[in-house]
Order: sequence, then structure tokens, then C-alpha cells
Amino acid sequence: MSFPKAFVWGAATASYQIEGAAREDGKGLSVWDVFCQKAGNIWNNQSGDIACDHYHRYKEDVNLMKQVGLHAYRLSVSWPRVIPEGTGAPNPKGLEFYDKLIDELLAADISPYVTLFHWDYPYELYRRGGWLNKDSPDWFAEYATVVVGRLSDRVKHWMTFNEPQVFIDVGHRSGYHPPGDKLEFAQVLTAAHNVLLAHGKAVQAIREHSRVESQVGLALAATVRIPATESPEDVEAARQSMFSIRRKNCWNNTWWTEPVFFGRYPEDGLTLFGNDVPAIGDRDMKTICQPLNFFAVNIYSGGKTQAGKDSQPERVSFPVGQAMTTFQTPVTPEVLYWGPRFFWERYKLPIIITENGMSNVDWVSLDGKVHDPQRIDYLHRYLLELKKVCKHGVKVLGYFHWSIMDNFEWREGYRERFGLIYVDYPTQRRILKDSAYWYKKVIASNGAILDKL
Ligand code: FCB
Repeated sequence: MSFPKAFVWGAATASYQIEGAAREDGKGLSVWDVFCQKAGNIWNNQSGDIACDHYHRYKEDVNLMKQVGLHAYRLSVSWPRVIPEGTGAPNPKGLEFYDKLIDELLAADISPYVTLFHWDYPYELYRRGGWLNKDSPDWFAEYATVVVGRLSDRVKHWMTFNEPQVFIDVGHRSGYHPPGDKLEFAQVLTAAHNVLLAHGKAVQAIREHSRVESQVGLALAATVRIPATESPEDVEAARQSMFSIRRKNCWNNTWWTEPVFFGRYPEDGLTLFGNDVPAIGDRDMKTICQPLNFFAVNIYSGGKTQAGKDSQPERVSFPVGQAMTTFQTPVTPEVLYWGPRFFWERYKLPIIITENGMSNVDWVSLDGKVHDPQRIDYLHRYLLELKKVCKHGVKVLGYFHWSIMDNFEWREGYRERFGLIYVDYPTQRRILKDSAYWYKKVIASNGAILDKL
């Protein structure tokens, strides 16, 4: 028994992390463009100004994706490239870029999965209050309408937002990402509410303007808990922990998933957040809760949980010597079993893993190749868990590796290499890493080779 027959094997990127051409062809500034200009914000004061120069090299990149054998490619659209001021007149050259990219992908038989927003927020809109402005959901719906109007004759799969937890919490509460604000928690929750409304309105816009029947989702940053053992008590403790809110921040699943899938905020969050919860308009929850076609989720790692005193969930600390990626993320393959399983049981929608992967110390060896055995082993372990959960009846539609190529890793600049393809930034030369060749075999066998060591 292997993966389902129509399983989609893909890889992902995001506009600001690869495109470059940050000030070209009429593109407006994003909050990332501005944030990177300030010394000390990014490792070695780097920026996405050039990144992988994908804006100019997209044909070569699509060709490499074809060589890897990808069925699908998850990309994001840069809002300020398409509408430089965030609202108002679209930029024809910006739209043309995505137009050509989509055509190139389709010609290579690769399905585009498009995320409308992967963090590069138009700076002009930030100056107008950003996600705190009550009009912000409509701005996003307007942008969605423009993109869908142009691409939906060829794009079928859409995601509204990437990891709202991250850009809201890290951008607006801790200020570690742009726009770099450290707002009161009540304001953070207002921004979060506007993002949820923006999601709902964008889904409506996609459904209304799409020229083919579209499949729509929202890519969440998963908090996954692994049961310490398979005893019913530990499994229940892990489940409880995954679907509860214990801290006053946005790093949880349910403040996002319950409004989107059930049309209400979770009780424990409402109680804990108390007076910080924003005023909720009569129709808001209806707008937010639009039917979706799949549950998209980015899963990298997660800790173990056991049933403690009175069956309460209790975190189990990582053992000394725990395997870690270069990014210091624990290697915990079981998250690709328990994450899909718990989400499927609760929300009953087919799952798509929209991101998973690791950063590694990759360099070009004397033989001119890039050997990355850790990434192969990581992938192998994680995909075996994904295979197991498919076998246990959980509906998983696809897997997108993060990332197809090394890129600008936000605050860490170019220090972290996440790609299946190595990018030599000074020359922009690309080299398929060993893991890319290995992933190609996984794809060609629909996961059958995972059973061989
Ligand atoms: C995720 C982001 C993605 C990338 C990976 C490593 O949180 O969505 O852009 O940076 O982490």
C-alpha cells in the first residue's frame, strides 16, 4: 500500500524569498523591502532585493522543477508587484510576470498552487494602518479579485494566506518581523480578526470570479503534538494540547481554525483573552467561515505530550542530543503522522502538506556536486510517517517540500539553505542537490522507494 494514486508531489517557494527585482517594472514597496533596509534587522544586513533573481530566471527554474519531476509548484504572488499601492491601479508588468510564469509551468505539465499572500504586505497600506484598518479586509478582497481575474482561467488551486499566525504575531506583537510593531494584545487580536475577515472575503471573491471550478484553502502554521506513547491517555492528551489555547499570543491552531471551519472563536481563547477580544460584527463569523476544499498546513516539528496529573497534557522535554536542523528545529518525523491525523479527525477536510523541509550545511563539494544526506534522511523519515497516515485512512492529497531552491530565509537572510536545489548567489548558478535526485525517485515511484533503505 502506497500513497493514493493521484497524490500530488510538489515543492514550494514565496515571492519575496526568491523573486528579487524588488524595485523593477513598477513594483511597489513591501514591508519587507523597507524592513530589510534598516541595519541590524536581518542577518548580515541582507535583503530580498535580488534573492534568487527568479523574476528574470523563472524559465530556467521551471525547467529545473521539471527535471525534478514535480507535479505541482506552490508559489505566492507579490501584492505590491501586482498593485503597487495595495489598492487602485494594477501594474500590468507585474501581472504579466505571473501570467508568463503560469504558462511556463503549464507547458512543463506542473500545476500551479497559488498563495495570494506570503507576507510581503504593500508598504503603502501599512502607512494607512495596515491590518488594523477596518477597510483592510476589503483591500485584500480587491487584490484577490484582480489576481483571480487574470490567472483563474489556468490556476485551479488557491490559498488565501500563508501562516497568519506568524505574520500577525511576529510582525505585530513581538516586532521581530515587519512591520516590526509591538502592539498591545487587543490590537494584535484586531489585526488577526481583520485577517480572518480578509480570508473570508477573498474566498468569496475567488468563488465569484474564478473562471474554472477552483479549490481553495488557507495555509496554516501547525502546532503539532506527538503523543509520548500510543496509549489512549497520551493520544488524548496530545489532541487536547493541540486544540487548546494556553498563552496570550497567536501561536496556536484554534484561534484561526475554529472561526474558519466552525464559524466561532474557541471558548478557552475567549476566556483567556478576555477584554482583549475585539468587537465582532454580526455577520463577521459568517463571512470568515466560508466552505473550503482542503486543509492546507505547514508542518516542520513538534514536541511530545503525555497525560500527566488528572490526565492533563504535559510536555515531555527533548532528550539530550536531540537531532536538530541547522535552523535549530528538532527533527521529529512523527509530526507528519499525528498532525494530519488530528486535523483530519477534527475538521474532516482532505489535508495538503503545503510546507515541510529543513535547512542544512550544504556546499559544493570538490566533485562539483552538493551532497546533502541529512536532507535525504529527513525526507525519508518524514515521508514514511506521511505514508503511514495515508495507510490509516487519513485523506492526504499532496506534499510540497520547502523549498525547491535555497532562498532568502527572512530574518536569517541567506544563512539557511532549505532548497532541493543549491543556489550560488554571486553567480546565480543552480545545482541540483543529491536530495533533488532522490526526491525525483520518490515522485516517480509514488513513494514506493521509501520502503527500501
Ligand atoms: C515557514 C515559512 C516559509 C519558510 C519556512 C522555512 O514558516 O512559511 O516562508 O521561511 O518557514
